[in-house]
Amino acid sequence: MYKIMNPESGNFPILLEGTTLKTPVALSSMAGIVDARYALERKEHIGAAFLGGYSIDTATIAAGRELADSGRAEFLPDEPFDEISIQAGAMQGSGVVTGFNLRATNPEPFLEAVFALGDKIIYEIDAHCRQEAFIRAGSGEYLLTHPEKLREIIKALKREGVTVSVKIRAGVSQNDSLLAKSLWKEGVDICHVDLMDFGYQRIRQIRNSVPMTLIANNSINTPHVMKEMLSHGADLVSVARHSDVNTLSTLDEWARSNAQGHGWYNAPKQLCRGGDIRALAFCCMPVKECPLMPFLKRIHLSPREYMDLKSELVKGTQLEKGKETCFGSLSWCCKDSSPCMFRDMVLKEQKIPMARYMKMKQELSEKILDYVFSKDEIPDES
Ligand SMILES: Cc1cc2nc3c(=O)[nH]c(=O)nc-3n(C[C@H](O)[C@H](O)[C@H](O)COP(=O)(O)O)c2cc1C
Ligand code: SF4
Ligand code: SF4
Repeated sequence: MYKIMNPESGNFPILLEGTTLKTPVALSSMAGIVDARYALERKEHIGAAFLGGYSIDTATIAAGRELADSGRAEFLPDEPFDEISIQAGAMQGSGVVTGFNLRATNPEPFLEAVFALGDKIIYEIDAHCRQEAFIRAGSGEYLLTHPEKLREIIKALKREGVTVSVKIRAGVSQNDSLLAKSLWKEGVDICHVDLMDFGYQRIRQIRNSVPMTLIANNSINTPHVMKEMLSHGADLVSVARHSDVNTLSTLDEWARSNAQGHGWYNAPKQLCRGGDIRALAFCCMPVKECPLMPFLKRIHLSPREYMDLKSELVKGTQLEKGKETCFGSLSWCCKDSSPCMFRDMVLKEQKIPMARYMKMKQELSEKILDYVFSKDEIPDES
């Protein structure tokens, strides 16, 4: 369920079956600007690209024309599906996972898109655009304030078995965590979040409520900000306005070297340092007053269940080793950034490189999330 590890590349998540993501940096759509040519010029430094947005029904095309007339750049081809098909073809073989940011007011045009384009691309529902003309037409942000409409579109796409992303703007829905949870329950694969000014705290809230792939967006232009997002629950970051080659290559290089050095490219902070639910992989036994106890309560896991779960999940793995550590096994041990000679001694004895240890913690965290989110009472950090 929470399948973030990519067995082929070993480092980055699977966004679309059959395509390896080479870096957790994506291009975010900009109407009239981000097309295949734009993405291909940056292909060395991006793992994914969301082209568009493209308006694909009468109402949104009319809204796009209205905006274009007032001077905004828009893609307004005569035959949108033919054009998107050409763009998709141009991306083939580029090594960049391709999504299309699509605007429409009801399921039918999305289904037409699937008919024309097949299942080798990501269908990103634009529930983000806030221009008055798109909202009036019943698209973009309108879908966030009319979730039943959004649900109809998602249901139709998921019935076709394609990969679906929903682009949202944080702070529009009354509760972004509940919104993300409802998207996940409808089968949405990716939640692409324009965080506005809400920052990494909002991505952590969402991560603590859903196991789906999360793309963090808005002003993520430096490795420092990218690290903040990844260490609080984002699986990828995306860039629009600053998607110049220099910025993208800086983010890409940092991400790859971080993955190389630390094994778990988006390792969370420890829970007591503000980490998200994935940090349970680093938590101690529940024996003291610390943020773990209230957190377990919030995610409907009793201390006993948590202990049994972790012990069970590491059975027969190298994380079971480590009698010399605080709690008798590496499963309770801290993140690589916390210096500890006891843990390091065990790793040395067991010939486990630190990056491999972190990878094992990543696997453990994925299994913990699978368990927590398959329970009847699932977490909700509102
Ligand atoms: C000129 C322009 C056009 C945009 N067009 C779209 C669009 O069609 N669909 C969409 O979901 N987001 C669109 N966006 C939003 C961006 O994808 C992104 O969410 C936003 O700019 C914040 O990210 P950034 O700080 O990396 O630019 C557009 C942004 C700009 C600047
Ligand atoms: S259990 Fe340990 S790592 Fe987790 S919050 Fe408490 S002190 Fe921090
Ligand atoms: S042995 Fe070290 S790494 Fe393991 S729990 Fe204790 S302090 Fe943390």
